[in-house]
Amino acid sequence: MKKLILANWKMQLSFKESEKLARNYQAKIKNSVFEVGVLPDFSALEIVGRNLPTKLFKLGAQDLAPYLKGAYTGEVSALSLKQLGVKYVLIGHSERRQEFREKSSLLRLKVQAALEAGLVPVLCIGENASQKKAGKTASVLRRQLEEVLFGLRIEKDNALVVAYEPLWAIGSGQALKAAAAEAIQVMIKGVLANLVGRFPRVIYGGSVSSKNAADFLEWPNIDGLLVGGASLEAAEFKKIISA
Ligand code: 13P
Repeated sequence: MKKLILANWKMQLSFKESEKLARNYQAKIKNSVFEVGVLPDFSALEIVGRNLPTKLFKLGAQDLAPYLKGAYTGEVSALSLKQLGVKYVLIGHSERRQEFREKSSLLRLKVQAALEAGLVPVLCIGENASQKKAGKTASVLRRQLEEVLFGLRIEKDNALVVAYEPLWAIGSGQALKAAAAEAIQVMIKGVLANLVGRFPRVIYGGSVSSKNAADFLEWPNIDGLLVGGASLEAAEFKKIISA
């Protein structure tokens, strides 16, 4: 499997700005040895999809509804995302866990909805600064994985992605050292092997930029990157996916 680099645009851009950035990507980025995904907000999925060459870029969403259909005002179904050409969908990003109080029981339903619709869930996990300080990183990550994935059937390795994003590294400019990320990814893979009997890609996120991307990507167990701020400028993102 190729390493996977995902651009999470979060809610940083308006519809028009998203369209413009997609056009900039298209103009500036011609190839990559990696699999690359772009994750705009819901409103911009279609226009971004239309402006990016599908050979090079996969489309991704930042969230989805826990159910496929029904009276759930304000939600967006995995079925619609699939029809829009979406492949990857973030689930349980720390911003959703913190700002919107999303709990493992809800995230589990979202993973199930994504799998049922044929999307690839990108389950986000990560410890906060005080958990890290208390030496609880491994137990926190294990619990986050177990609570969401226990007993779920994952058909093949590439039907799931796990994104490890230490909360204190997100948007802080303080990325985890690549060697430390490698060790944690190995631990995560051990948990996943026991839990779902698969070896999904485990990617790293948190203050990734063109300055450190290559350091991460040279490690064998860092299967890709989840990039926030540094994906909002085409030239910078180009450097990352050319690392
Ligand atoms: P930054 O790359 O801006 O730190 O954001 C990371 C992130 O949360 C990606 O999902």
